[in-house]
Amino acid sequence: MVKVTISAKENGPLIVETDGKRLCALCRCTASENKPNCDGSHAKSGFKAEASEIKVCD
Ligand code: FES
Repeated sequence: MVKVTISAKENGPLIVETDGKRLCALCRCTASENKPNCDGSHAKSGFKAEASEIKVCD
């Protein structure tokens, strides 16, 4: 079974990993021009959010 983890980076995207390998970075600031992927625009937009871990059910 593949282990999936999702972590919200401080002031940045949601990082999705499968078995410890980065699968994608999803935008959560809404500023990306390449949604649903993060394109780094969060840094210029001044997006502020706490880091957190999101539990994915097995
Ligand atoms: S979180 Fe990176 S562009 Fe939105």
